[in-house]
Formats: sequence, C-alpha cells, structure tokens
Amino acid sequence: MNILTFETNEELNEVGAGIIASLVQTKPNAVLGLATGSTPIGIYEELIKLYQKGRVSFKHATTFNLDEYIGLPEDHPESYRTFMNEKLFNHIDIPLEQTHVPNGNAADLEKECRDYDDMLTNSKQIDLQILGLGHNGHIGFNEPDQSLNSGTHIVQLKEETRKANARFFNSIDEVPTQAITMGVGTILKAKMIILVVRGAEKAAIVQRALQGAITTDVPASLLQTHPNVVVLLDKEAGGMLS
Ligand code: GLP
Repeated sequence: MNILTFETNEELNEVGAGIIASLVQTKPNAVLGLATGSTPIGIYEELIKLYQKGRVSFKHATTFNLDEYIGLPEDHPESYRTFMNEKLFNHIDIPLEQTHVPNGNAADLEKECRDYDDMLTNSKQIDLQILGLGHNGHIGFNEPDQSLNSGTHIVQLKEETRKANARFFNSIDEVPTQAITMGVGTILKAKMIILVVRGAEKAAIVQRALQGAITTDVPASLLQTHPNVVVLLDKEAGGMLS
C-alpha cells in the first residue's frame, strides 16, 4: 500500500487526476471504477480541466460506478447517476452509454445486481477503481457487518450513513434506506485502487482501515489485502497514522 499525504487539496487533486489521466492516455479503452460523495469531486474537476486542455480523451473509456440509492428517481438531484452526469460525464467526451451506474429503480433489483456483476466478471475488468471512505469505514455502500457480500448486492443503509448523507437532502427522512452496491469482492478485483480521504473527522477511521486489524467491522481494512492500492490523504485525514 502506497500512502501519500498532501499539504493542500489542490496537490491531492492534481496527483489523483494525473494517475487517472496517465492510465487513459496509455490505455484509451481503460475501464474506470468511479465513486460519488464529496471526496472525489476535486479530482473530477481536475480531470475536466485536463480534458479541456486536450491532454486526455475519454471517448473509448468505460466506467462503472460503485453504488446507487434504491428508490430515488434517476433524475433526482441526489441520485448518483445525476451526480456523475453533473460532476463529470457532461463535461468530458465519454459517450453516456459507456457509463454504468446501478439502476436503483429496476423492476427486479436482484437481477440488476446480477447483471451488473456479470458485466464486471464476463466482459470488463476494472483497471482503476476510485474509492472514498465512509465515516464508519464503509467503501461503496459496504457497511460494517459480521460478514461482507462479495458481489453486487442490495444493502440496508446504517442510520449513521443516512445521517452522514442527510446533508445532501432537505431532511433525513428523504435519505433512502437501501442502496445497490458493488461488493467488496468486486472492488478487490480491480487491478489498481486509489483510496481518497480528506478531513480530520476521518483520521481515526483512516488509521483503523490502513493500520488496524483486517476486519469486516471496517470494510476498508480489506484493502490491505490488495496488491496495488494508492492512498491519497490530506494532512488532516492522515493525522493519526503512525
Ligand atoms: C457515500 C458513498 C461512498 C462515499 C462515502 C463518503 O456513502 N456511497 O462511496 O465514499 O459516502 O462520502 P464523502 O466523500 O462525502 O465523505
């Protein structure tokens, strides 16, 4: 695991975007695993700048997002599909049909999970997966539990996660109670993973995830078993690492 700590968010964003852009420059048909949440936004903004300067094209890339709420209309401002369109896809040259976000309104949600996993096992392997970190150690929406699901599945969101995400909604009652998420097994199949974390309030969970025991109580700690993980931290998030 290669842990990099940055003095400023600008530097972190440039390095994160630089890693993604170099991959797509050398492998135009790269498969990118993407994340939502506030953490990756700065990296997406840098990627858009690189695209606008003509340094990188996403015309042949494919993307798979980690997760999506169940029951929010696709065009709801807080659906992860809307987030990705607004924060990245609408500003670069990737054809939307090459972008994949689980459909949280599918008539058969179990089938949606199976189909999403089939695409990732049968035809596409993720070259580079971007991850944020939940306050309770979740990655995607894989919440702490006694055991973790390997493949894409339906998850019941923890109250702490709904509270953390309520800042994006008018009230906590509007936050969905369920989501579809890639499983930890699917995430760990990516050839390379970039975990991005910012802020002092995540310093303790960063320490547990990166230097603590590997346990399903901290789903991100399973990243310690992956051979090719780069961790990008601002200095606050890295503040408790030894
Ligand atoms: C959500 C997403 C995660 C994300 C996490 C952290 O629950 N499902 O993929 O990493 O929140 O969000 P933020 O980056 O806003 O702290």
